[in-house]
Amino acid sequence: MLRLDTRFLPGFGEALRQNTPRLLEARSTLLARKGEPGAMLGWLDLPEDTETLRLIRRYREANPWVEDFVHIGIGGSALGPKALEAAFGDGRVRFHFVDHVEPEPLRALLARLDPGKTLVNVVSKSGATAETLAAFLLFLRWLEEALGEGWRRHVAVTTDPQKGPLRAFAEREGLASFPIPEEVGGRFSVLSPVGLLPLAFAGVDLEALLAGARKANAQAQGPLEEALPLHTALLQDLHRERPISVFMVYSERLKHLPFWFVQLHSESLGKRDREGRRVGTTALPALGPQDQHAQVQLFREGPPDKLIALVIPEHPVEDLEIPKAEGLEAAAYLQGKTFHRLLRAEAEATYQALAEADQRVYALYLERVDPYGVGWLLQHLMWQTALLGELWGVNAFDQPGVELGKALTRALLG
Ligand code: PA5
Repeated sequence: MLRLDTRFLPGFGEALRQNTPRLLEARSTLLARKGEPGAMLGWLDLPEDTETLRLIRRYREANPWVEDFVHIGIGGSALGPKALEAAFGDGRVRFHFVDHVEPEPLRALLARLDPGKTLVNVVSKSGATAETLAAFLLFLRWLEEALGEGWRRHVAVTTDPQKGPLRAFAEREGLASFPIPEEVGGRFSVLSPVGLLPLAFAGVDLEALLAGARKANAQAQGPLEEALPLHTALLQDLHRERPISVFMVYSERLKHLPFWFVQLHSESLGKRDREGRRVGTTALPALGPQDQHAQVQLFREGPPDKLIALVIPEHPVEDLEIPKAEGLEAAAYLQGKTFHRLLRAEAEATYQALAEADQRVYALYLERVDPYGVGWLLQHLMWQTALLGELWGVNAFDQPGVELGKALTRALLG
C-alpha cells in the first residue's frame, strides 16, 4: 500500500480539482499511444508477464552452482537491480555490479572471484554501450582462460530480443539469453529480465514485486481521486519553478533507490520541450536519517528552492527493541522504544521541520519495505515520470542529450 500525504500543502486539493482536465488528458494521451511502435510504453505490461517469470525461474533452478553473480550494465541496465538486490537479497549469492570502468576495482574483483562459481550477466538494451562492452570483454577473457570451452555456461546475456551486437553474439555462441522487450527503455526496465534475472538469483520474491506493480497500474488508471501517480505528477508540475526536486527515503535497505529515481527523473524529463525550451528539475537523492546530519541543514536554512518528497515506511517487517542501559541517562528516553519507532519519529520530525522552513514537502507512506510495497513504488514513479513527460511536452523515453558525449568518447579513442 502506498499513501500520499499532503498535509503541509493546504491548497493541493483545490489545485487537483482545477487541474483535473489537464491530468486526465495527459493520461489519455499517454495511454492512446500504447501499442504504437516506438511509443516505449511496454513497461506498462511488464507486471503481467508471467511467461518471462517462468523462464527466469527455470534458468535460476538449472544453475544452483552460482555463488557469485557479476552484473555488467550501466544506467537503466543497472540501477534498478542494484537497488532491489541491496534491499531484498537473501545474501546466499554474492552480487557484484559492474557499472563503471575504473581499472583498480575491476582488477580487485577479478582477483577475488572463482570463475568456476561465477555467473557473468551482461545487460544492455542496445548491446553497444562502451562501458558495458569493455567490462564484458574483460570478464569473457577471464572465463575463457580459466574454463576453456566451459565458459559458455557462465554467461547470460540480457539484451534486445532481435537487434544489436550482444544479441548476435549470444546467438552465435549459443548463450543463455533473455529479452528486454523492444518497447521497454533502459530506465523503465527494472521489471523486465534486467531486474528479474539478478533478483531471482538474489532470492527476491518476484511475484510480490510484480503484484505490487500491478496495484500501481490499477491505481494509475482508476478514478482521479485514487490515481496516485496523477497526484504526484501534479505536485511535481505545480512546483516546476522550484529547480530542485529532492527524493528522500527513510530506509537503509532502500539506500540505492534514490539513485534509480534520479536517473529516471533526470534522463526522462531534463530536455527540450516541443517549443525548444529547456525544461526539467534537478532530482537530488537523500537518505534518512543520515541526511538529517548533512543535507537537512541546507534543506532547512538554504534557499527555498526545493520540492521534497519523503518516502516513509509505516510499519517494520520485523522490529527490534532498544535495550535498557544502566548508567547512560542521556539514552533513557530511547529505552524500551523500538528502532522503527525511532525511525518513524525522525521522519515525522523532519517532515514537520522542513514544512516550517518554507520548503514544499509531501510524503509517500509505504506500508512496509517489502517487495510488494517497493514494486508498487517503482511502478508509481515510472507512471509519475511518464505523465510529467506529457505535462511538460517532452518525450520521456528518449535521451538525445547523452549522444554527443558517446560520439566524442569514440572520437577520442580513435
Ligand atoms: O535509461 C536509459 O535508456 C539509459 O540510461 C540506458 O539504460 C543506458 O544508457 C545503458 O544503455 P544500454 O542498456 O543500451 O547499454
